[in-house]
Amino acid sequence: MTGETVMPLSPRLEMVLRLTPDAAVCCDVGTDHGLAAVRLALRGSRVIATDINRGPLERARANIRRWAVEDRVELRLSDGLSAIKPGEAGCAVIAGMGGELIAEILSKGTKDIPSFVLQPQSKHYELRDWLSKNGFRIVQEDICREGQRYYVAILAAHGGQEFLTEEEKHIGPRLIESRHLLLGGYLASRRRETEKILEKIGGASTPRRNECAALIEMYAKYGQGG
Ligand SMILES: C[S@@+](CC[C@H](N)C(=O)[O-])C[C@H]1O[C@@H](n2cnc3c(N)ncnc32)[C@H](O)[C@@H]1O
Repeated sequence: MTGETVMPLSPRLEMVLRLTPDAAVCCDVGTDHGLAAVRLALRGSRVIATDINRGPLERARANIRRWAVEDRVELRLSDGLSAIKPGEAGCAVIAGMGGELIAEILSKGTKDIPSFVLQPQSKHYELRDWLSKNGFRIVQEDICREGQRYYVAILAAHGGQEFLTEEEKHIGPRLIESRHLLLGGYLASRRRETEKILEKIGGASTPRRNECAALIEMYAKYGQGG
């Protein structure tokens, strides 16, 4: 099978791939089904697809065969970027994992890879905080929606480290700046999630309660255009 247009991907993975710069060699870290790796190969990159578990690598192998890109995708059993040699890749995708796990993978060494496309499923604040303290600049951010769920993706590059405010770490500096079309809906959903947490906490004034109340106020403010 050939031709990128016939390969269906979820809106989340489409968003991740839209953000991914063209590179001669690209890594897909935590590849699982391997679909992002296959699409990158169909786009013309050589891909190193890694996973910490053997089962996902076998799932990826089946998709790589199905889309006839065996000559362009190499599978490696690897914890994060550990099996990548310094200078081997021009970009890396780390998608579908918690923000803290993504930061942990990056903190073990970024192997001279200049650009990373990161798609955290949670802990966005912690990931942006790590990036801002470790020499990364957030180049671009995007949001997509799948049913009721919103996803965020971040293109981060080495160099030009930037200071981020607390609000930017929570919401996303480039999402705020660009007044992303889905920002209002995304922040409304974050607000509803935080309100549910607040309900569970109950009436007593605790640091966690105050933190949730402040987040709800922030989501409301930026959801209406900042
Ligand atoms: C939920 S899947 C995401 C798959 C794909 N990247 C996506 O976005 O659809 C997470 C994958 O990351 C792998 N994984 C978890 N921790 C990892 C690590 N430290 N290094 C490499 N892969 C890891 C898991 O085995 C799993 O296959």
